Amino acid sequence: MRATTVLVTGANGEIGHGLLTRLAEDGRSIVTLDVAPLEPALAGLVRREFTGSITDRALLERILAEFEIDLVFHLAALLSTRAEFTPVTAHQVNVDGTLNLLEFAHHEGESHGRPVVFLYPSSIAAYGLPDLETKMRAKRVREEEWNTPTTMYGCNKLYCEHLGRYYARHYKQLGAESPAGRVDFRCVRFPGLISAVTLPSGGSSDYAPEMIHAAARGEPYTCFVRADTRIPFMVMPDAIDALLRLASAERARLTRTAYNLTAFSPTARDICEVVTRAFPDTSVTWTTDEKRQRIVDSWPADVDDSAARRDWGFAPRHDFARAFDEYLIPAIRQRYGR
Ligand code: SER
Repeated sequence: MRATTVLVTGANGEIGHGLLTRLAEDGRSIVTLDVAPLEPALAGLVRREFTGSITDRALLERILAEFEIDLVFHLAALLSTRAEFTPVTAHQVNVDGTLNLLEFAHHEGESHGRPVVFLYPSSIAAYGLPDLETKMRAKRVREEEWNTPTTMYGCNKLYCEHLGRYYARHYKQLGAESPAGRVDFRCVRFPGLISAVTLPSGGSSDYAPEMIHAAARGEPYTCFVRADTRIPFMVMPDAIDALLRLASAERARLTRTAYNLTAFSPTARDICEVVTRAFPDTSVTWTTDEKRQRIVDSWPADVDDSAARRDWGFAPRHDFARAFDEYLIPAIRQRYGR
């Protein structure tokens, strides 16, 4: 019998970096799919690397034929700012690509007779609050509130949550004996993510990681949102823990398809202050990019993640202070030798 394997799409991206390392530490056999070749440090961790697009169905069929996949982390996507420049391409990658992967998982489950667990990172971009006053009044937004995204990326993420729910429900309705419907879909709505190792590209929450990395490199930074901008964030190790914890959660305990996650909700000014304390020669100027500002202003200032805490024990280890003191500042200092 072929050994079961994990498939990671978008493996070269921000989340992929941390996830591959953790999966390899756990001794998992990993197959990756990304439009760009994996960085050498990552390539050594995987059993097989496919370079190509999730929109290429022939390529997915090749992977299906060669490997017995029991777990999918579908990370590939065009992020929110990038997607506004090329909305049709974003739809093709974010929606058509996800549909391809769900079909892939469905066929894979069908062929080996048990459901494929499918982890999908959705986003706070799935929310859309109409104005700042409403955002401030909204407090900790629950999963089913304000599901009116303003961006192509947000629409794509929200719709794919529903697509995943459709595939999962199909599975439940038909029952374990049926050959149809074999996708065990599980999804988190990530807040902005901050990694000490990599920088994101094309996101609207990128100001936080960009500011921190620029300061550590001793470079000036122009922040593209107002200093009072507030959205939820978490650091990458907690994001990876959350994905792995949800992946191994008992199915019967999961009461919903998509779960909010958060760890802390600083303003851009709060981030600037803590970065300036760590790197006193930091130079941040503020020049608002109206389009990107509108995007983050439409995202909640905080979210209610009690369902994730209750159902599968989500518990981020880093609050705002620990994120910087125990993870970001030491790891970034080491990375840039400062
Ligand atoms: N961090 C992402 C972005 O800014 C949201 O999921 O697009």
